[in-house]
Amino acid sequence: MAGESRLDKFLADCLGQTRTQVKELIRRGRVTCDGKPVTSPQTRIAEGMSVEVDGKPVARAEKYVYYLLNKPSGWISATEDPKEKTVLDLLPAQKRRKLFPVGRLDKDTEGLLLITDDGPLAHALLSPKSHVDKEYLALVQGIVTTEDVRRIAAGIEIGQGQTALPAKLEILETDSENNRSEVRLTIHEGKFHQVKRMIASCGKEVLFLRRIRMGALTLPEELAPGEYRVLTPGEREALAESCGQVFPHGMTE
Ligand code: URA
Repeated sequence: MAGESRLDKFLADCLGQTRTQVKELIRRGRVTCDGKPVTSPQTRIAEGMSVEVDGKPVARAEKYVYYLLNKPSGWISATEDPKEKTVLDLLPAQKRRKLFPVGRLDKDTEGLLLITDDGPLAHALLSPKSHVDKEYLALVQGIVTTEDVRRIAAGIEIGQGQTALPAKLEILETDSENNRSEVRLTIHEGKFHQVKRMIASCGKEVLFLRRIRMGALTLPEELAPGEYRVLTPGEREALAESCGQVFPHGMTE
């Protein structure tokens, strides 16, 4: 039956314990379902049924978890690395979760990074077909001009035979004394080093880069680099919609 789960899997997911550990709980008679003692790990748990351990109701586990991280410079966007600190090192140790960052920010880039174990959502967000907006603030060496804005709006060649899709470049500030500019760039794809390559194609260099938005998800101002928080249900829903998914796609089992 849809929405059903085996008792041992259900408990392992909800309690963050191994199947062996939860089987032991069941064997010792500490588990009840809808108030009745159960002794078989294979007992089917239907939606709406309550499960108790030592008489206390077990909270159902969310199928997926979603963290919004303000990635600091110096951490790499990977799940593990023999030498470097990864963004997963910034999160609490997760039991039974296979978390990964959705897309990559360069080691020296800061800003919004979604970390989840929701493969279908990540796939939809990263799909070139979804054209999910990514918005960046950049400090640039050189004076960005309206001609750069025009070239980026038309779709600029970024080397290695690649052309970036038309994107929106806004000049926020220019500082001729120090030969620097601050810009906001909104792109709809995620090619390797894309922003740096787009700015390099204008003959300038990105000195600092921060991602402030991905689809409907905006970097909260109060979240300092290195800090994270769990997505709100509204943010999860809006993010799913921004890549054409209908949420919820992964309810509790
Ligand atoms: N574009 C880049 O060049 N670097 C990033 O980290 C993200 C987008």
